[in-house]
Amino acid sequence: MKVITVTNLKGGSAKTTSTAYLAHAYAAEGKNVLIIDADPQGSALRWSEQGEWEIPTIALPVKNLHARLRGIVPPDTDVVLIDTPPLDEQAGIVYSALRAADTIVVTMAPTMLEFERLPDVWAAIDEVESLRDTPPQVAVLLNRTVTNANSTPMFRQLIADDGRTVLATTIPRREPIAQAFAAPVTDLGKYADAAREIDQLGESA
Ligand SMILES: Nc1ncnc2c1ncn2[C@@H]1O[C@H](COP(=O)(O)OP(=O)(O)OP(=O)(O)O)[C@@H](O)[C@H]1O
Ligand SMILES: [Mg+2]
Repeated sequence: MKVITVTNLKGGSAKTTSTAYLAHAYAAEGKNVLIIDADPQGSALRWSEQGEWEIPTIALPVKNLHARLRGIVPPDTDVVLIDTPPLDEQAGIVYSALRAADTIVVTMAPTMLEFERLPDVWAAIDEVESLRDTPPQVAVLLNRTVTNANSTPMFRQLIADDGRTVLATTIPRREPIAQAFAAPVTDLGKYADAAREIDQLGESA
């Protein structure tokens, strides 16, 4: 079983959207997926209800998620996706979700506003690392990118210069994704590639 936590410092960085799409991408690969909505706002849970997802989705916005997870997840589960609240609003819950993770996906748009908040995310991840047996795989997923804009390679380079991993796959800004909330997730788009890449993190090339 692999636990993937989707996180960022800020609200509105496409955490819930990415959790929803990545979960459906793994389900489309034939995997047994469980979504944990650790955000007290309950957006993923509401989306699952209104969109009538087949993927089981449960709300668990608690600060001891890492301790409770193994007892909650059904034994045949392949992938657990955890959607988190903004780190700057609910640090306790997010730290717990980071502790629970095998893989951490940091979702952000390639903008200076989001880039300049990354050090706080790295600090939280580094802090949690001391509480773990093995370090997690960590990667940035650039989303809401504009095709052929300079911002994508520019921020990819800036993040790489900080020694952090950026997925080769980026998620373009798309109206169907913007309007996806509360509906079934059908067109995976680039999230299918992102899911495969996330799955392969840490495997030697
Ligand atoms: N690729 C995309 N193209 C267009 N719009 C997008 C894309 N990804 C996300 N959005 C939009 O960006 C907004 C924020 O996304 P989302 O709710 O997933 O962020 P969040 O990080 O979960 O926010 P919160 O911290 O409030 O939970 C939403 O309106 C969503 O539809
Ligand atoms: Mg959200």
